Amino acid sequence: MCGIFGFVGFRKNATETVLNGLKKLEYRGYDSFGIGIQKNNQFEVFKQTGEIEHADNPFPTEVNFAIGHTRWATHGGVTKNNAHPHLSNNKKTILVHNGIFENYTEVKKQLIAKGYKFDSETDSEVASVLLEELLKTNDELHAIQKLNQTLHGRYSLVIKFLDSNKLYAVRNGSPIIIGVTDNNHYFIASDIPAFLEHTNTVNYLDDNQIAVFEIKNDQTSKKFYDINSLQEVEKRDIQVDLNPEDSELGDFEHYMIKEIMEQKESLLRSCNQDPELIDRVAQMINNAQDVYFVGCGTTGVVSMCARYLFAKIAKKKVNFEYGSEFSHLECVLEPNSLVIGISQSGETIDTLEAIEMAKAKNCKTACITNVKNSTISRAADETILINAGIEKAVASTKATTSQIGILILLAYACMNKTMEAKQILHDASGKINDMLNPRYENILLKLAAKIKDSQDMYIIGKGINFPVAKESAIKIQEITYIHAEAFAGGELKHGPLALIQKATPVLVIASKDENYLDIISNAIEIKSRGGLIIGISPENNEAFDIWLKVPEHNIDAAIINLIPIQLLSYFIGILKNNNPDKPRNLAKSVTVK
Ligand code: AGP
Repeated sequence: MCGIFGFVGFRKNATETVLNGLKKLEYRGYDSFGIGIQKNNQFEVFKQTGEIEHADNPFPTEVNFAIGHTRWATHGGVTKNNAHPHLSNNKKTILVHNGIFENYTEVKKQLIAKGYKFDSETDSEVASVLLEELLKTNDELHAIQKLNQTLHGRYSLVIKFLDSNKLYAVRNGSPIIIGVTDNNHYFIASDIPAFLEHTNTVNYLDDNQIAVFEIKNDQTSKKFYDINSLQEVEKRDIQVDLNPEDSELGDFEHYMIKEIMEQKESLLRSCNQDPELIDRVAQMINNAQDVYFVGCGTTGVVSMCARYLFAKIAKKKVNFEYGSEFSHLECVLEPNSLVIGISQSGETIDTLEAIEMAKAKNCKTACITNVKNSTISRAADETILINAGIEKAVASTKATTSQIGILILLAYACMNKTMEAKQILHDASGKINDMLNPRYENILLKLAAKIKDSQDMYIIGKGINFPVAKESAIKIQEITYIHAEAFAGGELKHGPLALIQKATPVLVIASKDENYLDIISNAIEIKSRGGLIIGISPENNEAFDIWLKVPEHNIDAAIINLIPIQLLSYFIGILKNNNPDKPRNLAKSVTVK
């Protein structure tokens, strides 16, 4: 959460460069933004609440250093004072921060006792003030080292001191990547797409490292240090094969609909994997004593899909757990357990901590992610990239179906039947193509208009369609703000049926599988209590008040059944004038606990 962008170099439009970079990082938080520059031997700071498109500040442009931040509020409300950058009391240190300093209240008290003042409620300002104090007795590098020893937690920082021609970036648990151009301009950002229009040559800053950028005699240079030893470390320039156009909207109004529409291709790309890698991970699954799939939110639900898919395809029991709940399993993890983290961003802290805990217990680890070299990928023993292409909308769509595709591939690979899985996914891609047409969209738009003012919505499924129902509820919640809940169809009569009132919309996911008759009788039970039954099924049924037809499906049920729900959520969100790409209170990459 929170996006950081820094620039070092000689560009006439440096501040514009930073603002453009920040716009590309807004998926990490869009409560407020700010930019800091050094001009006429002082720092100037511009901050504003709300999104960058409403920026109303005139920014000076000809500067050699500029730092910016886009915020997802953790400590302190959404106010201008709490927006970054933060200055020290003497206005000689400026910084932007991503992450959390867990012990900041304690350090803040000590600084207040020394006479320092604070303008914001943030933990971040404590870092800028602490640096002012540390600089009294330390040089810049040692001051940063001491800050790292004093403030605990996962974070990244970009820091500039007024009396120096150096800019510092520090990584301790939250991502920072450096983009390098031929003429030695440096872009320092929380994610690569933020600077991809300028360069695809990068340096990855590792945890506990400091990057130092210097401008001297019109020359720029960079050096890297270990934060503990302050020894210099070497870094390789790495070329990344991301396409800047992937992160552009093109002709679409929103990223969410663009990404929904891309699923035919993204699903095909997900099964285009190195066969040796898939076999290796399948062998890890086959050889493990216990397998745990872990993820958060939508990827938590995808992890839950693994339980059904591996049982059905490979006759294999695998476990799933939400990342935020994984710690209770520490006592049952054994060296021959396997923990597989699923994370679109590869940065979600709870999923990362599950992988780290597994490593600490000497378990095997793997991950399924969309971001090459992401933190989770660097932590895990094996990485399967889903190759969905950049996913920018906060609501996950194409990454979700690609992750499910990888699970199907792995489950078949456990049975040495990878080619069978590829055929299934190839066919599923064709079915997605059949659904994503204007006629189908129109059906969903009409349904959206009918139910958009509902207070509540319920979704039921059985078997693999239970996690599909759970993912549907997440999509409806985050995009439409309607109270939506998912239940296993058979559980309704044990309590939730009491919630059904006249015309309450209930989505019934009814694949033509071994669970069909059960879920239909659940639908009839709801209908007889007045619920409005919206059946998602390849076949109409008299239990349905409204039928959303989906293509015939089998083991690909989770992929196919999600498509109409993604579209329905999107259209309800649009009709309610919500911004589907930036749901309120949320951010795409959840790097705090
Ligand atoms: C998806 O629509 C959500 N925005 C959210 O639940 C997301 O899946 C979750 O935060 C996990 O993110 P990750 O896949 O990047 O780890």
